[in-house]
Amino acid sequence: MTSSEDLVATRTRPFATTVAAGVADDARNEVEAGDLPGPGSIVGHHYRLMRLLGEGNFGKVYVAERIDVPEHRVALKVLPRSFYVGRNVERELVMLAKIGHPHVVQLMDHGMTSDYVWLTMPVYEGETLGERLARGPLDLREAHDIFLPIARALQALHAAGLRHQDVKPENIFLARFAGRMHPIVLDLGVAAEKDGSFVAGTALYAAPEQLAAILDTENAEVPLSEKMDVYCFGATVLRSLVGEKRFPGAKALTRRQVIDSHQVRATTPLDDDALPELTDEPRQKLVRYLSRWMAIPPEERPDMNEVAEELDVLLEPERERERAEEIARFAQRRALARARVAAAVVLVAVAALGGVALWKRETLRLAGELEEARTRGAESFDKLDTCVASHAVAKREAQVCTGELEHEREEHEKTLTSLAAASKEGGCDDVVEQMRDLRGQLNLERKKHEEELKTEREAHKAEIDKLTRDLQAERAALEEERAACETSKKDLMSANESLKAERDACALEKPAGGGGGGSLPPAGSGSPVAPPSSDPPDVPYDPEPPKAPLGPPQPPPTAAPTTLASPPDDAAPAEAQ
Ligand SMILES: Nc1ncnc2c1ncn2[C@@H]1O[C@H](COP(=O)(O)OP(=O)(O)O)[C@@H](O)[C@H]1O
Ligand SMILES: [Mg+2]
Repeated sequence: MTSSEDLVATRTRPFATTVAAGVADDARNEVEAGDLPGPGSIVGHHYRLMRLLGEGNFGKVYVAERIDVPEHRVALKVLPRSFYVGRNVERELVMLAKIGHPHVVQLMDHGMTSDYVWLTMPVYEGETLGERLARGPLDLREAHDIFLPIARALQALHAAGLRHQDVKPENIFLARFAGRMHPIVLDLGVAAEKDGSFVAGTALYAAPEQLAAILDTENAEVPLSEKMDVYCFGATVLRSLVGEKRFPGAKALTRRQVIDSHQVRATTPLDDDALPELTDEPRQKLVRYLSRWMAIPPEERPDMNEVAEELDVLLEPERERERAEEIARFAQRRALARARVAAAVVLVAVAALGGVALWKRETLRLAGELEEARTRGAESFDKLDTCVASHAVAKREAQVCTGELEHEREEHEKTLTSLAAASKEGGCDDVVEQMRDLRGQLNLERKKHEEELKTEREAHKAEIDKLTRDLQAERAALEEERAACETSKKDLMSANESLKAERDACALEKPAGGGGGGSLPPAGSGSPVAPPSSDPPDVPYDPEPPKAPLGPPQPPPTAAPTTLASPPDDAAPAEAQ
């Protein structure tokens, strides 16, 4: 291969197969001739080859089982010894085994005979990226999820002082672990030390300096480095995104055509019809990155760490969509938040006004009751107590109302705080500002209502105190009046008692005195005559004070019977006797 001045793709040597400089055609011939161990053969004293997993230009990969523990299965690769002519196999394999990166195939065991070199690795379930691409190109997210781990794997390989040299879709394995895709860099068969002279690769993906070195052409002066992996990686990404048809060089049949494709990849890697979902700045970015990854001078290519970071561009359209969705969601949330704040303001205002109204109503009711009590005077002593009790009840109700208002205020405070936090998360300062304004308004409103409530409460208390004082004064005046009444009643009673005593004394004196200047009227005359007497009449008790002043006895009326006591009719015979 290396001796050929020109490179021509044929059915047996397509540009997509691995070629190696300095490797005798014997190696390939050995693989083709079946000189290597096959199914049923025991390799390395321990492994029985079971079935073929895959086959490349220089090696064959089998599923093998340990003869002592058949359940222990491995993937075992055999390569002709001639493939390693002039190389330190042992050293290379140990270096590869030491990488230990989750996205680099893990070499577990190795050995060699005079005919072949063998190495074992875990058997992965899945398919190669090449097999996946046969079903169509990757979408941007899929490409990101596959190539980011592969970029990190290559970064690890480079950090270990090695270069892979043959990064291409067929050497990337999409393993599946518990249903999840896990990309792995396969085929370390042609890997070399970073600046080593052993060079191999696949023409379709190889870096210009790599191809020149393989072909041993006059421009093979460019030093080899791990930057050739950056190129192969860029070419693999481009091929995976745009499909074979739009991949520059895919149809190349000659070395010239391959070199032309290098120019296209370094300047206009993205066909205008490719990736229509990628537009504007993200598209320009990807074009820029691909051109750099596949720059013709290796020193213009970034390292794998930078490449890994630049892969982020593949997610930009998705992020753009998410941002648009988030903005729509945020607009909805903002409308909802405004509605909630407005509702909170109205609720607080209504609650505060309700509290004020309740106080006003209670004050008016109590004032009315006290006024009524005042007009009803003494009868309202009990009413005063009722009023005081009622005032106490109203006061309790007002306290409950104030408590509820306070609770409601705290709830609204919480709502506003959480809304403000939610808005802040959304990253929109203007909404936070609006919330702050609304909160300020709400506080002013609340303070106003609290002031009104306080004024009302004080006025109400002053009114109650005044009414209580008035009633107490009235009660005292009435008590005084009642005491005066009691005194005059007592006086009247004692006056009555003394009059009664006088009358009794008069009555006793009459029979003993014998007429005293008058004669009894004849019986049956029908016109009794009052005896001339100065005795006071026997007046029944009347608590009313006398209407006329006491004076000498008036002459009795002639026709009407007097109210003065006269001896009963049956006393006449006694008097006659
Ligand atoms: N560890 C593995 N588990 C499963 N399949 C594997 C494994 N290693 C290799 N293969 C299969 O064998 C094929 C050839 O392996 P590779 O290492 O690329 O050898 P070659 O040098 O022949 O290209 C791969 O494309 C893959 O399909
Ligand atoms: Mg391979």
